[in-house]
Amino acid sequence: MVILMDYLQILGFGLIFVISAILLKKKSRAKLNEPPLVSYKFPIIGHTFDYYKDVQGFLAKCRDEYGEIFSLYMWGTVQTYVGKTTYSEVYKNHHTFDFNKAMEDIMPMHHFLNRPEGFLNDIDKYAREFMSDLDKFAERVQKNLNKSYNEFIGDGKVIRSPLKVIQQIISRPIAATIVGEELCNDNEILDSFANMTADLVPLLSFPPILNFIYPGLHQKFLIFKFKYFNNPIRTHRSIILSKIITVINKRINDKNRLRNSWKRPDDILQELTERFMIDENTVDIDSVADFIINFIFASVHTTSFIFTQCLYDYVNNPEYHEELLEEATSIYNKYKDTPYYTIDKIAEMDKLDNFIKETLRTNINATSMFRKTVSDFTFLSGYQVPKGRTIQTMTQHIHFDPKSYGPDPKKFNPYRHINSQSTRPERDYVAFGIGKTVCPGRFFAINEIKVAMHFMQLRYKIRSVSGNRVEPIVFAGFIFPNDEGLIFEKREDSVIQEF
Ligand code: HEM
Ligand SMILES: *[C@@H]1O[C@H](CO)[C@@H](O)[C@H](O)[C@H]1NC(C)=O
Ligand SMILES: *[C@@H]1O[C@H](CO)[C@@H](O)[C@H](O)[C@H]1NC(C)=O
Ligand SMILES: *[C@@H]1O[C@H](CO)[C@@H](O)[C@H](O)[C@H]1NC(C)=O
Repeated sequence: MVILMDYLQILGFGLIFVISAILLKKKSRAKLNEPPLVSYKFPIIGHTFDYYKDVQGFLAKCRDEYGEIFSLYMWGTVQTYVGKTTYSEVYKNHHTFDFNKAMEDIMPMHHFLNRPEGFLNDIDKYAREFMSDLDKFAERVQKNLNKSYNEFIGDGKVIRSPLKVIQQIISRPIAATIVGEELCNDNEILDSFANMTADLVPLLSFPPILNFIYPGLHQKFLIFKFKYFNNPIRTHRSIILSKIITVINKRINDKNRLRNSWKRPDDILQELTERFMIDENTVDIDSVADFIINFIFASVHTTSFIFTQCLYDYVNNPEYHEELLEEATSIYNKYKDTPYYTIDKIAEMDKLDNFIKETLRTNINATSMFRKTVSDFTFLSGYQVPKGRTIQTMTQHIHFDPKSYGPDPKKFNPYRHINSQSTRPERDYVAFGIGKTVCPGRFFAINEIKVAMHFMQLRYKIRSVSGNRVEPIVFAGFIFPNDEGLIFEKREDSVIQEF
């Protein structure tokens, strides 16, 4: 409702923009050989409604009629859609097809944080560097997952809104990795980890109706709203800031006092602190906080989505339980005298990896990996797109290609991935992206989901409250985990003696 009121106010401003846009009228430019623009009935609205009525069906129809590259008129602007073969030209020409520019349209993070453009671009470099040695985090992730399971599921429980609880479960091991052991038991900071992205999603997924008035108006509205009205990031940011200040100061003190005998904490907070050191005693804590916020955005929501989907896939496909449990039990018994699994031991969970990969493959959104061109571009086919064009990749077209996945590509079947790891991007598997912007957190995410599933199966029998299959919710071409409850029943015959 609040959003709607703001929208109505902005609508007034929008009209002024429209008029000035008409008056300013764009310079005419050389005509490009553009991909076919799918025909439409209504000006301005274009394909918007046909698209949202049935995204998958509509895109399939467009491909049948126009081939695998075409343009749609959406929310007042032309967007170009690429399919399973053309998309490789997009990810390979990453200088032209810009990832950060595209992100800015839907989530202008640097504006939300009052930072200059490009401030957060190093996040992928940091993620790659900080997560290059996962053994540093392995024990902490497992210990804190165990703690989460004990707290949220214990000896068994019916969980009504699994995604919410999974977000909380996942937040603890992620917090232990990002802000470290001092803070990962702090309930306030855990709440912020679990809630921050979820608090933003309703704002960010509100359809960009304002762009009908003036392209880019939606983004301006978001920035305006976050600057002057309620901004969920602001609340979480001040919690995070107040907590990390204490820890950073203590660490600096300890380091100066203990010198060589100081044990450097292995976590992302420490890495960032060292990057943003002003002098021996002072740190640019605001920058540390802003990058922590971005690490949370990149990690909590995605990991809990996939983990939740994976649990539903587990419930929906009981024919795999026996062999998965067999693998888990034999690995558990083999290493039960070691305190936790190192990364090479987690790598032995092959069947589980295949299973998770199939979850990642089948739960892909209709479109993702969007980009914005920073200059004109000519595809090998001869089609051209202008600078400033938004490009969408039809990721379901890639993941459900019968050439790669056989006559029944939508069927859940982990055997498709024998000898092929879930973290490895391939031309027909892009759950973590591919090319320059491939997800730098994918090894961390997969290791975490694997140990989470491992202990989940060993501890509990899982089924849905209704006893039926639980399908994901498809909305606007996006796939969201269902909200149906899950029953976790303690395995009396578990190899784990005590939880
Ligand atoms: C199952 C969990 C995850 C999934 C499915 C996922 C998926 C993706 C995808 C598809 C991209 C590429 C987007 C594109 O090219 O358009 C991406 C990028 C990224 N991911 Fe993940 N991700 C996951 C977990 C994580 C985690 C745990 C981190 C932790 C730090 C992370 C950090 C990032 C970052 C920083 C980028 C941007 C890369 C760049 O700017 O070049 N992700 N992720
Ligand atoms: C986070 O969400 C939980 C559950 O929805 C709620 O109880 C809690 O108050 C929220 N915390 C914050 C800081 O928003
Ligand atoms: C699919 O899209 C939704 C909405 O933008 C997003 O929240 C979700 O993370 C996406 N799913 C995956 C697996 O990336
Ligand atoms: C996690 O819990 C299981 C079961 O209680 C236990 O066997 C394992 O050692 C625990 N791992 C860690 C790292 O605490």
